[in-house]
Amino acid sequence: MITMALAKGRIYQETLPFLAAAGIYPVEDPEKSRKLMIATNRDDLRIVVIRATDVPTYVQYGAADIGVCGWDTLYEHGGNGLFIPVDLQIAKCRMSVAAPNGLDYDGLVRRGGRIRIATKFMKWARDYFAQQGVHVDLIKLYGSMELAPIAGLADAIVDIVATGATLKANNMREVRQIAPISSRLIVNQISMGLKRVELSPIIENIRKASNKND
Ligand code: PRP
Repeated sequence: MITMALAKGRIYQETLPFLAAAGIYPVEDPEKSRKLMIATNRDDLRIVVIRATDVPTYVQYGAADIGVCGWDTLYEHGGNGLFIPVDLQIAKCRMSVAAPNGLDYDGLVRRGGRIRIATKFMKWARDYFAQQGVHVDLIKLYGSMELAPIAGLADAIVDIVATGATLKANNMREVRQIAPISSRLIVNQISMGLKRVELSPIIENIRKASNKND
């Protein structure tokens, strides 16, 4: 049995054509069902529907053999025990530093004081500011990061920007782009050895479908 971990929402929708390219069709729509384990047209392949941040954990521990996960989540997880064979080039966005329109972010950086940064991406933020030599106090949040500067909790945030609409609606702007983000196919390293016969064609068909999109 092959278990595939996917998150609901945009990544799921954009992953469906890649599954079709590998001959995999879920029998139910997880957006319409409350089932957490979904069968497919293949008796030997099932899908578990979990939170995006849990996808690398399921695959790392082998509770799922394969999955699709954003680079934002994957970097934050660290990638232990994972093989990352394909960049699907879907769900594209970027990891950025954003600040209120009124804040002189460059001035803050130049003066070298500590900047208060709210984020749910602690590893991204820690690594980025360390590499830049910028002193920060990181404040861990679980969502709605854009509220933190408005409410006076932080000076700036590290978050995902896609269209920029959320920043604009909250009078904020991107002040630094940290990295481009897209979703990756991830595979448990032990499954890759033990289930190579079943997994290889799936990976190769997904890889071919992603090359066609280039
Ligand atoms: C992400 C992110 C921003 C928003 C950016 O949130 O945290 O709030 O999308 O998108 P935009 O640039 O197109 O406005 P998401 O909706 O994924 O939910 P989350 O806050 O729970 O992470």
